Amino acid sequence: MPKISIIAAMSQNWVIGYQNQLPWKPIAEDWENLHSVTAGKKMIMGRKSYESPHRVFSPLGNIVLTTNPDYQAESGFEIAANLTEALRIYASEVEIFILGGEQVFKEAITIADKIHLTIVHQDFIGDTFFPKFPEDDFEILQRTDFQKDKENGLPFSIIVYQRKAP
Ligand SMILES: NC(=O)c1ccc[n+]([C@@H]2O[C@H](COP(=O)([O-])OP(=O)(O)OC[C@H]3O[C@@H](n4cnc5c(N)ncnc54)[C@H](OP(=O)(O)O)[C@@H]3O)[C@@H](O)[C@H]2O)c1
Repeated sequence: MPKISIIAAMSQNWVIGYQNQLPWKPIAEDWENLHSVTAGKKMIMGRKSYESPHRVFSPLGNIVLTTNPDYQAESGFEIAANLTEALRIYASEVEIFILGGEQVFKEAITIADKIHLTIVHQDFIGDTFFPKFPEDDFEILQRTDFQKDKENGLPFSIIVYQRKAP
């Protein structure tokens, strides 16, 4: 079974999305981090995130979760009926990334080994949220604080959580 890593960006009030888009203009440093952390890894995402204009994907392979067996995804994306099936398809991978959104994070956070979480230190209006998770079950491997991003002037931090050994 691969290591399961989540990568997400949320506001300080836990918002991750609004009307199927990111609530803030893309943060260049956050995208750079995402691309460098996920390089060489395959990805799993929910159908709504797949349809978002800010869709992220891997050139190596992606799975879109959907309950619709007739769903047609573009080349480079296969579909799976649930997370268990997706993990079975990627059973030989060393590490895979869960890209969201809320519905998929809620399920994946219960089994995630690592969470790469960007926190924008401002409140945003949103309709989808990162799930509250038991932070005591994780140790912080790394934290980088940024005073202001280049595009929006927003302060943010990138935190890497690792699940503690049982
Ligand atoms: N800030 C971030 O890091 C980040 C990252 C990703 C997404 N987002 C945002 O999050 C929002 C989308 O989140 P969301 O919760 O509405 O949608 P989502 O999780 O992206 O997709 C939900 C859909 O995925 C399918 N799905 C999810 N779990 C499944 C399972 N276990 N088995 C089968 N199908 C499953 C279902 O598709 P069907 O309805 O087709 O069955 C469900 O309706 C957007 O605003 C997006 O921009 C933010």
